[in-house]
Amino acid sequence: MCGIVGYNGYDQAAPILLDGLEKLEYRGYDSSGLAVRNGKNEIEIVKAKGRLRILSEKTDGGNALAGSCGIGHTRWATHGEPSENNAHPHISDDKNVTGVHNGIIENYQELKEKLLRHNYRFYSDTDTEVAIKLIDYYMKKYSEGPVDSIARAMTRIRGSYALVVMFRDYPDEIFCARKDSPLIIGTKEGETFAASDVPAILKYTRTVYYIGNQQIARLGKGTAEFFDIDREPVEIEPKEVKWDAEAAEKGGFEHFMIKEIHEQPKAVRDTINSIVKGNSIEFGETGISDEIIQGIGRIIIVACGSAYHVGMAAQYVFEDLAKIPVRVELASEFRYRDPLLLKDDLVIVISQSGETADSLAALRLAKEEGIRTLGIINVVGSSIAREAEHVFYTLAGPEIAVATTKAYSAQLAAVYALAIQFAKVRGTIDQQKYEELLAELGTLPGKMEKILEDKERIQWFAAKYSNAKDMFFIGRGIDYAISMEGSLKMKEISYVHSEAYAAGELKHGTISLVENGTLVVGVCTQNRLFEKTRSNMVEVKSRGAYLMGLTSYGNYSIEDTADFTVYIPKTDQHFTTSLAIIPLQLLGYYLSVARGLNVDKPRNLAKSVTVE
Ligand code: AGP
Repeated sequence: MCGIVGYNGYDQAAPILLDGLEKLEYRGYDSSGLAVRNGKNEIEIVKAKGRLRILSEKTDGGNALAGSCGIGHTRWATHGEPSENNAHPHISDDKNVTGVHNGIIENYQELKEKLLRHNYRFYSDTDTEVAIKLIDYYMKKYSEGPVDSIARAMTRIRGSYALVVMFRDYPDEIFCARKDSPLIIGTKEGETFAASDVPAILKYTRTVYYIGNQQIARLGKGTAEFFDIDREPVEIEPKEVKWDAEAAEKGGFEHFMIKEIHEQPKAVRDTINSIVKGNSIEFGETGISDEIIQGIGRIIIVACGSAYHVGMAAQYVFEDLAKIPVRVELASEFRYRDPLLLKDDLVIVISQSGETADSLAALRLAKEEGIRTLGIINVVGSSIAREAEHVFYTLAGPEIAVATTKAYSAQLAAVYALAIQFAKVRGTIDQQKYEELLAELGTLPGKMEKILEDKERIQWFAAKYSNAKDMFFIGRGIDYAISMEGSLKMKEISYVHSEAYAAGELKHGTISLVENGTLVVGVCTQNRLFEKTRSNMVEVKSRGAYLMGLTSYGNYSIEDTADFTVYIPKTDQHFTTSLAIIPLQLLGYYLSVARGLNVDKPRNLAKSVTVE
């Protein structure tokens, strides 16, 4: 996510803004900038691509930017590549409005076209510049003040935003507006702060106001007034922050991983909302047209690790819905196998970082063969994103924990949407089924939140098995793909050896490893395979295994076999991975915590494997 800091007081603003942005670096970013109102009542802006150090050097640690009122920003790109030009703050052409933003404006194209019709011009590719100029537009159209103009813009903007804005003609004030993106206001004697998160201002004050959704703030020097979207004043009680700085970075969670597990509903919701518009899917920004979809003969999904496991689940979904043959390949194998590619193949490379060496090499190989390529990527402007012919960006935000969770879930949402659109365009589903699938897709975030409410049961079970030596995750079909990701989560953060196995394959040798007390997780979300997998669970139970069952509400007969059962809400059979993976992520997480391990930075692992 982006980082925002604002300061209005009696001290020099720029050093305070830089210090605050440094405390927000953990949120991930690719560029940064400052805007400070100087002694001549002009707003000076300095921006830099890359690390915050570069911005600090450009401004001599902030000392080159005189003034006691300013705003700062670290940008995590969602619209428009990382660049100085796209970095915030953004400004209207006559310097009337200057601002920074964290969030995603879903209807920014529509708003941009409106402003273009009113002779506005744009210098960046960002949705933020559109928001800033929309405020400017309303200010000029109705000749009203900042609060009115911001309120009018808020009624038109769809999506999420935390906006912090300065106005040329309002020299000693800063204005804020918030919907769904985090923003807090801090005050102390003669000084007021705005920030995306507590760590940025903890050094200065612990008195904070949590501005509400669709509320506006006017910040003076040590004062804060709040308004609702109808511009009516609202009272907000200040709170005292009890967290220390480290806890604050994790939003009060103990680790980034558990924080990101809880961010999954939002990551999925944002990713879905980026392409699902009403009752249809719009892939316009990916360049994947209906004509292209109709001409594809086969899909080859290439990835590593968890991204590969997304591909394993996607194979079942694509083939069942769109009746198109899908191969799933490990990038490290694909790149050295001289793969037999066909001219009407589509190679889809899935990668959170967009920098995984094997996946990048696989992409380049496909391109050398003249094959169409699509990247499903979480980092805007990353190598794979830049080199793939088409890109579908997931909107999980920066993922700090080495073990991926929210990016994996956002990738699943992306492949579901692709499979549904392929099926619609190729005529393998009708309009009714299309709309039913889209509607069900939209229910996933809420169902994920419901599962997270019940996490204590998993925590209790994980503590029981903190000394486990061997674990098996078994399933059939999509449940096998789920097992793969569940097993990887367990291995990479708790260091407990585990294997994912196709349940029907166990009897061909591996079942000999099952001993008394071996934990076996039976994944049974696929109704038509439920009894088959359950019989495999009986086989391992008869050899002494302790059985955890994972299935949907309603399949209560599993309790005749499993020793411990976790249920997930019912959903379309194609989408169960998105729900079933959450208890398995939690199982790995709590087991790692119980073993006192470094959950966020497991031994021997890197967040992005940029070497072979
Ligand atoms: C996932 O928990 C692992 N950290 C790892 O397997 C990861 O999924 C893999 O390295 C691929 O990374 P990418 O998505 O950035 O390409």
